[in-house]
Formats: sequence, C-alpha cells, structure tokens
Amino acid sequence: MDIYNFAKDLIVEAGQFIEKRMLESFHVDSKSNPDDLVTDVDRETEQFLSQRISEQYPTHRIIGEEGQGHDVHDNKGVLWIIDPIDGTLNFVHQSENFAISIGIFIDGQPYCGLIYDCMKADLYHAKYKEGAFLNNVPLEKAKEVPLSRSLIAMNPKRFLNERIRTPFFSIMSKSRSVRSYGSAALEFTMLARGQISALLFFRLHPWDYAGGVILTNELGYKTSNVFGQDLPLFGTTSVIAGNPLIHQELLAYFENDKDLKSLHDETHNL
Ligand code: IPD
Ligand code: CA
Ligand code: CA
Ligand code: CA
Repeated sequence: MDIYNFAKDLIVEAGQFIEKRMLESFHVDSKSNPDDLVTDVDRETEQFLSQRISEQYPTHRIIGEEGQGHDVHDNKGVLWIIDPIDGTLNFVHQSENFAISIGIFIDGQPYCGLIYDCMKADLYHAKYKEGAFLNNVPLEKAKEVPLSRSLIAMNPKRFLNERIRTPFFSIMSKSRSVRSYGSAALEFTMLARGQISALLFFRLHPWDYAGGVILTNELGYKTSNVFGQDLPLFGTTSVIAGNPLIHQELLAYFENDKDLKSLHDETHNL
C-alpha cells in the first residue's frame, strides 16, 4: 500500500476513534488564553495518529499541533503535518463541525492532503497532480467568481487587531457577505466544493492549512499569505485562498499597506 492509501485509511480510523472517545468523558484545558482550548481527545488522537505512522514508517517525521515534532525545522524526507482536531471550540461546544487534517510533503513538495469531517464521515483527499475527491467523487475545478459575487470565510476575532481591520472592512463591504465556521480545514473543504469563493485568515499554523492547501491547489485554487508569498511549513502566517481571480483581487487590498508589511516582516506572525 502506498503512503496516500495508508493515510486515507488512517484518517478514517482516527475519525472513528474520536467518535467513540466522545461517548466517554474528557477533560477540557486551556492553552495560551481561556478561549484557546484543548481536550484529552485532541491529544489522544494525535498520539493515535503518530503511533500508527511511526509503526508503519519509522523514518517519517511528524508535526502535530498538540506537541509532535515542534523541534522539526527543516523539510527533508517525508513530513506529515497533522491537526488531530481542527475546530476544537466546535468540538467542545457543538460536538460537530470539526475535522482531522493531514498534509504530507516529500522534501518540501506537496504529496497528498486529507481532511476528514468526522461527524459527516466525509473524506476529502488529493494526491498531487492526480485530482481531488470527496469520498470517491471528483471535485470540480475552481471557477472564476469575483469578490462582488462571493461569500468569503474569515476568522473575525483576529480583526480585533486594529492594524488589520481596515483591509478587512473594505473586503467585507465589497463581498456579498462573510462567513466564519470555526474550522479552517473545513473552510478549505467548502472552498473545494465551491460553497465559498475565498478564505482570508490571520495567524494560522501549518497544521490548520497543510491538508487544505494541497486539496485546493489541486483544483486550481491559489493560496498564499496576504502579500502573495508561498505559505510556510513552519511558523504562523496569514492565508488567502481562492479562485485565481478573487485571489488577485484580495491581494490588491494588502499590496500597498506598508505598515502591515513591516509588521509582517518584523514579527513573522500576522
Ligand atoms: C483553529 C481553527 C479556527 C481558526 C483558528 C485555529 P484549532 O484551529 O482552525 O477556525 O480560526 O485560528 O487555531 O485550534 O481548533 O485546531
Ligand atoms: Ca488549537
Ligand atoms: Ca487547527
Ligand atoms: Ca487542533
């Protein structure tokens, strides 16, 4: 079995693990602030995934949100970037609308991306240059829809930061409307299905977007930070993803923002 097929089976198995584990009680802790939650289920699922990967492929390296491989800073060999539960707040408050996300890279090049919507049992997956699928059904290529006729997904709490509020309000007013679903990975799947036309996020980590970027790039969507630079495999970043037309339109809102660019260059964590 190749790595792609192994990963497809594994992510579904991890989803079933979560579903079963949710029937038992679990602890909820906070991390950087009282609204940044993590549960036993996040940690155990990451453990489950990394154990299975290491048994099958002892040389592969793994970066996971809940602690795996945070000392990995180069992209040599096979690298798995994992979010065991993307949308932990939804997991805790709604018991749905969360996903497992996996992006696999070989020497820094995309190999395959997978997102599993656990409660719907929907598997989104793409292998580089071999198409993108929802379960076994091919997803359609990106269509060029302009901002003025689009729904845009955002993580609006970031806009409490005054420095990024101005372009955000301009984009919001030009768009048809904005949406916020609380799971970047699932928002990438909605982009892949054409349900929204673009994503604009600040301060994402690679585990939030690694699977989604491979999935949507495969369909002809463009992804970058707000200054048009490639998304990194390490650190935090802003993210714009969308069809080529809207991606270009959204970049224009940031290109002359010298203040924001210098903040980005100074902190590397917009
Ligand atoms: C979060 C979700 C959310 C995004 C946050 C992420 P988590 O991931 O993707 O939609 O707005 O920035 O941290 O913590 O639930 O895995
Ligand atoms: Ca988290
Ligand atoms: Ca996440
Ligand atoms: Ca997570």
